Amino acid sequence: MEKHVQRLLNRISIAAVISATLLLLLLSIQTPQTCFDPSDPNPKPHMRFPKSTCDFKPRAYTTVEKRNRRIWSTKAWAVAVASYASFFETLRSRNHIANHSHVLVVSAGPGHAVRALRDAGVEDVTGVELVESPPLVSRADPHNLPFFDGIFDLGFGAYLDLALFPARYVAQIERTVRRGGVCVVAVAECGAEEVAEIVKLFRKSRFIDAESVVLAGERRTRIVMEVES
Ligand SMILES: *[C@@H]1O[C@H](CO)[C@@H](O)[C@H](O)[C@H]1NC(C)=O
Repeated sequence: MEKHVQRLLNRISIAAVISATLLLLLLSIQTPQTCFDPSDPNPKPHMRFPKSTCDFKPRAYTTVEKRNRRIWSTKAWAVAVASYASFFETLRSRNHIANHSHVLVVSAGPGHAVRALRDAGVEDVTGVELVESPPLVSRADPHNLPFFDGIFDLGFGAYLDLALFPARYVAQIERTVRRGGVCVVAVAECGAEEVAEIVKLFRKSRFIDAESVVLAGERRTRIVMEVES
């Protein structure tokens, strides 16, 4: 490259660096303009900015009781709970559930299944989900259940097909259900081949039956497995 062109390019890049530095300096000196008055002792809620990360408090827009009362009074809630009620009634008629059963519900969502079981007289129902919904559902990862081995008579996972790691999801339900107890899982409605694949995920249970059901308005396939060891 010719010398004078090189010099010109150098000068241009030095000029660019200087002007960028000046701009940065200017930006850091200037206080940003805001549209609220920081000296106002009683700012409106939407004008109140946290001063540090410690300043963040979860804002209780509504109490748990109020929220629950609202959710539980919807038609969608009643319809979903009713569909779980008839689902569990079938399991009861086949002697998989009794009032004295210890039942675990994973992927419990807002607690439709838990509500249906308690309403039906099942005394010990534990509902877990990644996001808690007190008082029906507490927080736990279905892939890492915080329960001892073999303490439940029935473990129910309505959304095996949505699990990130289906084999682990199944293994965790299987682990927490006692020998002779049952694991009940459901997936989007499927055929015999898929059912066979799902059955293979179970390591220590034998296949009891598979059936099409409607759960909370969705057609799903329910699979029952009995824990053998
Ligand atoms: C189970 O509990 C419900 C509600 O308390 C009751 O109506 C039902 O009769 C009980 N079932 C049995 C078999 O005891």
